[in-house]
Amino acid sequence: MSESELSVPAVPNARDAVRALRPSLIREVANAGFGVDDVLPFWFGESDRVTPAFIRDAASAALSAGATFYTHNLGIAPLRAALASYVSELHGSTSPDQIAVTSAGVNALMLAAQLVVGAGDRVVAVTPLWPNLVEIPKILGAHVETVALGYGEHGWQLDLDQLLAALTPDTTMLMINSPNNPTGWVMSRDEQRAVLAHCRRHGIWIVADEVYERLYYEDGDGPARTAPSFLDLAARDERVICVNSFSKAWLMTGWRLGWIVAPTALMDDLSKLVEYNTSCAPAFVQQAGIAAVEQGEAFTRDLVRDLKASRDHLVKALASVPGIDVKAPPGAMYLFFSMPGATRSLELCKAMVREVGLGVAPGSAFGPQGEGFVRWCYACDTARLDAGVERLKRFLALHGK
Ligand SMILES: Cc1ncc(COP(=O)(O)O)c(C=O)c1O
Repeated sequence: MSESELSVPAVPNARDAVRALRPSLIREVANAGFGVDDVLPFWFGESDRVTPAFIRDAASAALSAGATFYTHNLGIAPLRAALASYVSELHGSTSPDQIAVTSAGVNALMLAAQLVVGAGDRVVAVTPLWPNLVEIPKILGAHVETVALGYGEHGWQLDLDQLLAALTPDTTMLMINSPNNPTGWVMSRDEQRAVLAHCRRHGIWIVADEVYERLYYEDGDGPARTAPSFLDLAARDERVICVNSFSKAWLMTGWRLGWIVAPTALMDDLSKLVEYNTSCAPAFVQQAGIAAVEQGEAFTRDLVRDLKASRDHLVKALASVPGIDVKAPPGAMYLFFSMPGATRSLELCKAMVREVGLGVAPGSAFGPQGEGFVRWCYACDTARLDAGVERLKRFLALHGK
């Protein structure tokens, strides 16, 4: 054996694009809370309530009946049919062959990106934004440009001209999340219309992350059932891919179930990608998904009513704290607000969890444009929100604010 074969090899590294991904700053704050006994966590995007019983029962029944096998890559036919009627009712005619079942929203985002972007492609995203949308294209070697929402008297707003200018003819994909995590901003119908027309003109793909579409609090003539969706405007055979999830509207974060609405012409290729990623979503989870879609409407409406009450309760409580600037956003399940010390939001959030056991997410976790803010998920009862606000006040008092 030669000398070089015996020498210790270089430290093994992942490839550069993966090493350059940003780690989660929310996780960094949560790590700072290890060892603190009593933390009130408002940092993750989920409710403190368990999935409703009728959905859990459907999964148990499916398991008992032996739904333990692989399924079709694109999902079981009854779930695709149930989703097609659900989407048709909300957004206009959609057929099962335009639906693919995925292993939740994040997998749907990865599949959508894998379908249309590759190394060197230009992607545009509107920020502040849940980091996954910005990082996923980078895994594929794409280059992501960001357009920042502005914060003013009316909360978070898009500068439409700035977005259209960023959508240059050499752009491959726009990733847009509305209702938005973390800001709660909702893209208006007119803005969607202008963006769709522009993207059509230049052949740019729109990947619309609409996982919070049902968590929408504007009333209009009566309670609206969803936020404005690109599916309301786009033909089903154009360059629009819509990503959705069971996580938020039916409290199914841990189940990992979602779906994509995409042109039929993409489905054979999408099927191959599903095969090489996850092969399929679990069969008994898909059965539970049918129960959610077919029987869950009353549940979702009650959930939205409760979330709206929680949002209003927290806005009122925080607005009474000197130094806090908070507005009620029209969608999602977060308040994204400024407070004393938030210009260094990571340090602030770590100090709050260590010193008073208050767990909120730093604005910088959602891109540099989020610095100066913190995100608070209000999907819990009002007593817990009040306890959190008391801790925030105690923290400010401790620091002489
Ligand atoms: C904007 C956005 N998109 C997608 C997801 C994905 O959720 P899931 O993978 O649980 O469906 C989340 C989760 O918080 C989100 O905030």
